[in-house]
Amino acid sequence: MEYSNVFFIFVIFSFFIVGVICTETFSAEGFEVDPLIEQVTDGHEGAEPQLLTAEHHFSLFKKRFKKSYGSQEEHDYRFKIFQVNLRRAARHQKLDPSATHGVTQFSDLTPGEFRKAYLGLRRLRLPKDATEAPILPTDNLPQDFDWREKGAVTPVKNQGSCGSCWSFSTTGALEGANFLATGKLVSLSEQQLVDCDHECDPEEAGSCDSGCNGGLMNSAFEYTLKAGGLMREEDYPYTGTDRGTCKFDNTKVAAKVANFSVVSLDEDQIAANLFKNGPLAVAINAVFMQTYIGGVSCPYICSKRLDHGVLLVGYGSAGYAPVRMKDKPYWIIKNSWGENWGENGFYRICRGRNICGVDSMVSTVAAVNTNSE
Ligand SMILES: *[C@@H]1O[C@H](CO)[C@@H](O)[C@H](O)[C@H]1NC(C)=O
Repeated sequence: MEYSNVFFIFVIFSFFIVGVICTETFSAEGFEVDPLIEQVTDGHEGAEPQLLTAEHHFSLFKKRFKKSYGSQEEHDYRFKIFQVNLRRAARHQKLDPSATHGVTQFSDLTPGEFRKAYLGLRRLRLPKDATEAPILPTDNLPQDFDWREKGAVTPVKNQGSCGSCWSFSTTGALEGANFLATGKLVSLSEQQLVDCDHECDPEEAGSCDSGCNGGLMNSAFEYTLKAGGLMREEDYPYTGTDRGTCKFDNTKVAAKVANFSVVSLDEDQIAANLFKNGPLAVAINAVFMQTYIGGVSCPYICSKRLDHGVLLVGYGSAGYAPVRMKDKPYWIIKNSWGENWGENGFYRICRGRNICGVDSMVSTVAAVNTNSE
């Protein structure tokens, strides 16, 4: 790295460390105008000062996301968390200036509640025995590529408050692979995985796919391979709970796994595998996603502790330009929190530095061409 860049980064760091310390000293008491709230919410320009209170934003939030609370106590507790999250969003904005952070449907949840109910990646590292994807040529890859434009990606789904992200990442990858193998885009059943997949890790006793309590995409591919395939979404619809029994009907299999493998950490290999094999199941650290509104997320610091399973569907070459730097490339990620989250349900994150661990656990799956069976 050039000396000037190092210096520049140092300057940025000094700024936001000071900023973070400052934000901690603000208090949301008394509902006076809070400059941090102004930073993280739209439409404050020209508004009456009394509208710029946390209380006002909380009532907008409740209306927009149709929130209602069982008791006044619960309401007051959620309001406290909401205020803390407003300040967190402001901190995220400082740490991640190329994205927009603010109020989301998760703004009344603590990070712990958010992790438990909306994430659900069971384990943080790849199995040692996983098959490695063959190394692909990386020349002649397109500059920009998006499987959504090729018809390989189903509409954004919603996992609800169930830690089943892993099942959505798995179906997304197999939906794409099945599209490449058969030419047909079929939405596949997450509920089959939630109810029926209890595949365990051979290396780690007691670490098994477990419905709303988390799972792992590679184990889910293994289950799907053994079970004979996945049913259609409409034949085995999503309920968002894991209290039901397994209702898998092997006469109604809609897509079959031929094989699956893990892709190396190399970003060019990830791009080449995406281009050749379809959307990829990836894991990520989701801490910035709780407050994400849009843009390319590229935090200065982000944990690589993987806690969320998502689907890599494409990439772009020039999404954002940090101050005094050239345009930077990004990944396009399909999430499973509905279309009202992020960019119509999608997330963009910068490429190049394994940001938030996005390159650490990438798997590719191939489907059987069931047309010829
Ligand atoms: C995986 O399966 C596909 C489709 O049947 C096949 O073309 C490919 O060669 C297989 N890959 C590996 C690594 O076995």
